[in-house]
Amino acid sequence: ALAVFQPKGLAGVRALVTAGPTFEAIDTVRGITNLSSGKMGFAIARALREAGAQVTLVAGPVGLPTPYGVTRHDVVSAEQMFAAVKERVSGADLFISVAAVADFRPAHRSDHKLKRASGGLTLELTPNPDILGYVARLPRPPLCVAFAAESEHLEEHARAKREAKGVPLLVANLVQEAIGGDENQVVLFDERGRHPLPRGSKLEVARAIVRHIAAAWPDWSR
Ligand code: CTP
Ligand code: CA
Repeated sequence: ALAVFQPKGLAGVRALVTAGPTFEAIDTVRGITNLSSGKMGFAIARALREAGAQVTLVAGPVGLPTPYGVTRHDVVSAEQMFAAVKERVSGADLFISVAAVADFRPAHRSDHKLKRASGGLTLELTPNPDILGYVARLPRPPLCVAFAAESEHLEEHARAKREAKGVPLLVANLVQEAIGGDENQVVLFDERGRHPLPRGSKLEVARAIVRHIAAAWPDWSR
């Protein structure tokens, strides 16, 4: 009941979120993927909904329940995630790209299970589409938020990536902190500089990120 009296900082905002890893098939039973539980992206979707947004979540292969009130679309590969985002982005005011998209996929997918007895295997990899890059460069893009997991030189890489991606807000975490666990610690980078957030559960961190976005929303969405 208390929630009724909390300010809904993003009431009516249409948000599109990607979460989880993508899986790129090698053959019918094998593939390459990224380490990602999907928990941070699902927590972001939940926190956005709590803040009053209309949330669509495009999720890679994860075994997580759909947050209350969120519309979910499941995908497997980066190409499928790209297609799902393209279909839904035109109605979005806010795009939060939390997914750990595989940067490469096998150039050829075998339609049968490869046999071990056939000896060594050389994989040819081809780059996947940059989903956030595409969205950020649309003629009238939604407000875009990038997530970056860095293993070292967090500040330097985060600032450079925010510029390169051309996004107003980048959320950076050290991979050692974030992957798999229930807690996270992140630093936000925006036009005003760096904003470290306190360590907490992924839901607490997600709520703090959403509060930051909601506070800046009147300026950003102009
Ligand atoms: N991203 C995306 N599509 C891709 C790769 C990344 O949408 N094919 C998004 C991620 O969801 C994230 C942001 O881009 O929000 C940054 O991802 P990251 O992997 O850190 O950046 P890359 O440009 O792929 O650079 P790197 O070589 O460091 O992996
Ligand atoms: Ca990448």
